[in-house]
Amino acid sequence: MTFDRMSHREPSAPSLDELRKTFSARAMGHMLNPKNLGEFRMADGVGQSSIPCGDSMQISLRVRDGRILEAKFTTEGCGPVIACGSVATELVKGKTVNEAMALTVDDITAGLDGLPDSEAHCAALAVNALKQALVDYLALRREPWKKPYRQVGPVSTGGG
Ligand code: FES
Repeated sequence: MTFDRMSHREPSAPSLDELRKTFSARAMGHMLNPKNLGEFRMADGVGQSSIPCGDSMQISLRVRDGRILEAKFTTEGCGPVIACGSVATELVKGKTVNEAMALTVDDITAGLDGLPDSEAHCAALAVNALKQALVDYLALRREPWKKPYRQVGPVSTGGG
């Protein structure tokens, strides 16, 4: 069973019973009761990634002294990608930036007690979003004035 959303046809979505036959109890738990949904205002790092299926994920971080205190995610993706975002944001809590940078698709898969190969791209989406957030954290450390400015956004010139 795959979650190819290229067609975006809701009627083809699998039933809960079908999902339970395909995914581990742990993965189902993260899918149905995801942890760390949302985003931080004034995040210390924000990353976004998207993949050809059309889904995207954003991860935001709170970091203190080079260690990740909290991570949150948002996505418009499939059930498995929600599970991947949930477990990725759990796995990085307490890790240093370098340790979090080393997180892999295999770590996400292990954190979900397995994931079908057909859903590996969902784990890759979470890993990529996390890495973008870490890169953003490192960039903001060099240019910290950009963090509050982001909350305001670009000034409209009122033109055209
Ligand atoms: Fe798009 Fe899972 S089908 S991320």
